[in-house]
Amino acid sequence: MDTEKKTARYGRILNQLDDLLTKTDNPDARMATIIAVLHHKFNYFFWTGFYFVQRGELTVKNYQGPLACQVLEKDKGVCWAGINQKKTIVVPDVHKFPGHIACDSRSNSEIVVPVRDRNGAIVGVLDVDSTVLNSFDDVDAVNLERIVGMIYN
Ligand code: SME
Repeated sequence: MDTEKKTARYGRILNQLDDLLTKTDNPDARMATIIAVLHHKFNYFFWTGFYFVQRGELTVKNYQGPLACQVLEKDKGVCWAGINQKKTIVVPDVHKFPGHIACDSRSNSEIVVPVRDRNGAIVGVLDVDSTVLNSFDDVDAVNLERIVGMIYN
């Protein structure tokens, strides 16, 4: 998707979410809403969801897309890299990412964005997979960071 079109679409999504997320401050309701909007607005979002840290494990939360791994092995793969490095991770080709966890063999590129609670602690990640190589760039990173920043606001 070209940068201009992608930027404009994120702009419309941010406006829509600004309105939708005023209905409740419940983080789970907000995450479900965010996932539904993102997954259906971008056709390259093949799997869109959250993994949260629970008792030291990364466990799947709400998502849209094909069946995914429920628990991710500690300190392995892209989601744990996002948690441990405390930053957004863009993976152009998952097959070249050491330790990548393939929940679905059709995924080829991925982005992981850490989610912070009201105290600034990292509690989980937003994870998006695409079947197309090199789907995610800085436009996705910046906008998805803004969007996850709305969950606990
Ligand atoms: N690929 C992720 C696992 C989650 S799935 O993509 C839904 C990882 O390496 O952490």
